[in-house]
Amino acid sequence: MIVLGIETSCDETAAALVRDGNTILSSVVSSQVADHHVYGGVVPEIAARKHLEAVVPVVRAALSDAGLDMEDIDALAVTQGPGLVGALLIGFSFAKAFAYARNIPWVGVNHLEGHITSAFLSESTPGFPYVALLVSGGHTSIYHVLSHTECELMGQTRDDAVGEAYDKVSKMLDLGYPGGKIIDDLARRGDAAAIPFPRAWLDKSSYDFSLSGLKSAVRRYIDDHPDYADRLPDIAAGFQESVVEVLTYKLIHAAREKGCRDISVVGGVAANSRLRFAVTEKASRYGLRVHIPPVSLCGDNAAMIAAAGFHQLESGRRSDLPDDVYSRAKTPMGQKHR
Ligand code: KG4
Ligand code: ZN
Repeated sequence: MIVLGIETSCDETAAALVRDGNTILSSVVSSQVADHHVYGGVVPEIAARKHLEAVVPVVRAALSDAGLDMEDIDALAVTQGPGLVGALLIGFSFAKAFAYARNIPWVGVNHLEGHITSAFLSESTPGFPYVALLVSGGHTSIYHVLSHTECELMGQTRDDAVGEAYDKVSKMLDLGYPGGKIIDDLARRGDAAAIPFPRAWLDKSSYDFSLSGLKSAVRRYIDDHPDYADRLPDIAAGFQESVVEVLTYKLIHAAREKGCRDISVVGGVAANSRLRFAVTEKASRYGLRVHIPPVSLCGDNAAMIAAAGFHQLESGRRSDLPDDVYSRAKTPMGQKHR
């Protein structure tokens, strides 16, 4: 089954064609980063307008890259939420019209479920049940993933998401937006132990996270050190090490508690070089198999939406014309709290 995936939840307009939920035939991502850069963050109204301009050309590009025609598409999957409502509506309305006109099944997909499913777009895929760490600009959570359509939330951030903390720290240091890649690159030249930033363990047996204390510690360091601009690589490396150490510890601990052999790291921050290294290294010590998508599939893309949609469609789910987008709080995969 060939599924057309569409993603417009934030500042990327994306379309992809995926066969049977595991083989990417094409994946096109048109980023609006340059349009939002001057504002230091995503401006929802601008995002919606840019999606409207981009959605048809991006779908055409996905078809042409795959060498396919509209008639070859069997079903459609589109991000329904969470995200910016105005932005989501562009992709969602496009999907409704497309599916109605072609009379094919379609399904609205939870964006987080898309990220979780991105682990199935590589050659080695996790075996169920496994533990997933989802780290993005809006979310930081650990899930016990039971199947393609069922997962259990083990813990999540109590304040900022990890990507959000990277972006805010980058803004504090006047380094630009989005901050994740900038800090990641800068940290390579720094000494992670030079400036001791705090680790927010909370209760060590809890899988919850807190990023606000670390963010305030960076703020305090900047305020107390007028020469901080000379130490940017050390600040970046120290901040990053504090984040990565806690994320890695809790992910491995969760997998061990659940007795899982497989773990995954997904979402925009899964592109982080230090996190990829630390998780892989620590997992090998405990005999765990690690699944981290290639960097191109960590950030927002439509291949992950098509893959997640495929599994939903297989399980019999369908969306209908009266369905609407949602901005927040819906949980992925019929998620259960433990
Ligand atoms: O998943 P994503 O593309 O969008 C959301 O669903 O939020 O994640 C975007 C986030 C941004 O906060 C960005 O700064 C962060 O991912 N990010 C990174 C890296 N690349 C992107 N954070 C740390 N290191 C990176 N290399
Ligand atoms: Zn995302």
